[in-house]
Parts: sequence; structure tokens; C-alpha cells
Amino acid sequence: MAKEKIRFECSNCEHVSPKWLGVCPVCGEWNTFTEKREKKKSSKKHKVEISESTSSEAVRLSEIGTEHQERISANLEEFDRVLGGGFVEGSFILLGGDPGIGKSTLMLQTAKNSENLKILYIAGEESGAQIKQRAQRIGLSGENLYISSDTDVQSVIHTARKLKPDLLVIDSIQTLFSDELTSLPGSIRQIRECSALLQQIAKKENITTLMIGHVTKDGDIAGPRILEHMVDTVLHFEGDKNHLYRLLRCVKNRFGPAQEVGVFEMKEGGLEEVTNPSELFLSDSDLEVSGNSIACVMEGTRPILVEIQALVSSSNYGTPQRTASGFDQRRLSLLLAVLEKRAGLYFGDQDVYLNVAGGLKITDPAADLAVVSALASSLNNEIVDRKKVFIGEVGLGGEIRNVSYLEQRIREAGKMGIQKVVMPKSGTAVQAKTELKSAATISELM
Ligand code: TYD
Ligand code: MG
Repeated sequence: MAKEKIRFECSNCEHVSPKWLGVCPVCGEWNTFTEKREKKKSSKKHKVEISESTSSEAVRLSEIGTEHQERISANLEEFDRVLGGGFVEGSFILLGGDPGIGKSTLMLQTAKNSENLKILYIAGEESGAQIKQRAQRIGLSGENLYISSDTDVQSVIHTARKLKPDLLVIDSIQTLFSDELTSLPGSIRQIRECSALLQQIAKKENITTLMIGHVTKDGDIAGPRILEHMVDTVLHFEGDKNHLYRLLRCVKNRFGPAQEVGVFEMKEGGLEEVTNPSELFLSDSDLEVSGNSIACVMEGTRPILVEIQALVSSSNYGTPQRTASGFDQRRLSLLLAVLEKRAGLYFGDQDVYLNVAGGLKITDPAADLAVVSALASSLNNEIVDRKKVFIGEVGLGGEIRNVSYLEQRIREAGKMGIQKVVMPKSGTAVQAKTELKSAATISELM
């Protein structure tokens, strides 16, 4: 007789354990283990047999026709650019972001601007009345927008089939559930099941589907990246709660360039597109103080001018403070060490504060040179010309290294009325209206 085997399975993530556990070691949920009895399979080996009928034909790549992919414009220039020219018909998109960043607002804004599109909006998080209130705030009448609060995935699919919308928006995937599963909405199992069903709707019925997803503490959308693999495009909506700008970043795109970025500003009347982001991040004060310098960083394929602010003041404590906001703290320590060793500037008894104006977080190494100049300027109490931009990566030897997209950066500086650009000596000479100065090392720069 076959023996019965007892196992315990997490109802949230399907992790199996031979013992009952209070906390699931994989997903961290409490009290989710339930007993499962399984008949042990008889030990007869399973034989794999190849039958004649199951062979499917392979086709030569050159014989596969290319269907013309229709693009649907979101009628928001920034959104379209991030998507690579609009929504591809029948594509499956994931939009992630922190709560309250403006994901729902972005979709309503799209509905407002695209009156020609029929949009079905599954509102799992808010009631119809709440959405109406918000729609009024952004001035959306909503003739083209159909709202449903039914979050059973089967009825969502049924409604979508009947209505045949141009765009199906799920707000959010964490609120959807399938009746066939016992686990709670938002659990990994439910998310996986519901998105697999929605994927079929997108692909088989050619309904462009956009799912909104919450971001967990670790920055994943709905647990360990299960959704990112399933969808065609992954978008992240990010920004700083204390600032008004929002960045829509593409992290995966099967139909266009990844890493493209759209810039928006959250206003009283909804999201507004920012076509010239440099204006947003350059501080508008004409105050000339030491410690300020201008960098040019790339966000996607777009150069943006940002102001770097440094404050160096003598330390009152034994260990001096190093604080950076919008910039990597370890990179700051590294640049301070390079300045000390290669340019003879001593920060050992000084507190150093570094800030990127406007709340932008920069990771582009081309901002190094501006950071170095801001630090030196504050230490020596010498004002840096506001009409000068610094572009270059700083190496450990104090050398100023070349950066990518140098020409675009210089052009952007020219557009914003910058008269002088300090750039790496190894950078290839480009034609520009602005005055170009090149330096090979930071001691030469000082
Ligand atoms: P929301 O779209 O609800 O965020 P998410 O769906 O990502 O959770 O955004 C809500 C925030 O946006 C809220 O804090 C208020 C703000 N907001 C404005 O500032 N102006 C507006 O016109 C709207 C609609 C929202
Ligand atoms: Mg929302």
C-alpha cells in the first residue's frame, strides 16, 4: 500500500516544509502553513516516450512575417516617450511605485488627454465616488472612462471581453483575486494567478493591459520579481514625497528603448509634463554663495542640469560628519579622500554636507567633477561662477575621466544659457557655442 506523507505548505507562497512553521522563511508571513497529505507515488520509474503526434513544426525565422505593431498614443508626450512611442496594442505593462506617488493620477490624466480611447478602469482601491472626486480635480469629464469595482479576476475578464476597451487599467494587481484560490488577495499565489489570466486577455484578445503594482520595502513589485518576467514593459513611477517632481522610468521594454525617463510635476490640478527638466532642478535663486556648482547628469537619454550644494564647516565633535542627500554617501567619502590626497585639500577637521537641489537622486558618475568643485569652493570660501557647468568622472588618481553623451550634455548646457563648460581633457572636441575648458586632473582644475 502506498504510504501517506504529511507535508506543510505556505498558503501565501507555496513554500513546502516537512515541519509546521509559525513564520514562512520565504515570504515572512505568519501562520500560513497548512497540512497536506500526499500519497507517496509508487516507485515505478516514469518513462518518457516520444509519440509521433506531438511534434510541432519549427519555422525559419526569415519565413515569419512581421505584423505591423499598432501604437496607441497616451496623448502625454512624456508617457509616450517612455513607452517608446505609445502603448503597443495588446501589450502587457506593469506600473510600479510607492503609495501616494501618483500612479492612479497618471492613469486618470491619460484618460483625460485621450478622449478617443475607450478605457476600462478596475478600481480595487477606491470607490467610484472617490475616483469621481479626483477626476473633477484634474478636470476629467470621463465620457470615455468606464469604472468597475469588481475585483474578481474572472468578472474583470468578462467585463473586458464584453466592453473591448482600448486600454484596461488594473488598479491595483494586489487587490485582484481569483475565487479558485484560498489565499488572500495580494498574496504571491493570487498575484501570479491573476496576472497570468490577464496576460492571456492581453495577448489573445489584443487588449492593451496596464497593471498598477505596489512596491514592497525592498523595492520589488509584489514580492520576488514574479511579475517583472511576465510583462512586456515595466515602468517605475518615482519621486520624492517632499518634492513635486515625479520621474516615470522604464526598466524593461520589449518594444522600445529601456532606461527612458519622463518627467512630471504634481500640481494642484494633476500631473503636468515637464518638457525642460533642467529648469526644474536648477535653483532659481541668484544668490551667489560658495559651495554651489552645476552638474549635468543623464536621465535615460536626456541631459539634465542640476545644482550641487556643499557646505563645509569646522567640526565641533571628534569625528566629523559626512551627510549627503541625493548622492551616494560612500562616493562622497571617496571624493573627499581624492581631494585630500591629490589636491592637498584637508577635510579631516571639517563637517561636510552635500545636497542635490530639487531632491533629485543622482547616480551618474559625470557629476563627480561638480561635487568636487562644490566641496573645494565651500572649503576655500570661493564662489563658483553660476554660468559654468562641470562634467566629468573623477578617478582615484585624481584624473578627470571622460563620460558618455558628452556632446548632448554640452548642448544642453548651451541651451540653458551656460557660458562655460569644464570637461575632461580626454573628451573629444565638439562644436559648441559655449566656451569649453578641459582639465586632465583635479589639481589642474583647482
Ligand atoms: P495617487 O494617484 O492616489 O497615488 P497612487 O495611486 O500612486 O497611490 O496620488 C495621490 C497624491 O497625489 C496625493 O497625495 C495627492 C496628490 N495629488 C495632487 O497633488 N494633485 C492632484 O491633482 C491629484 C489628483 C493628486
Ligand atoms: Mg492609487
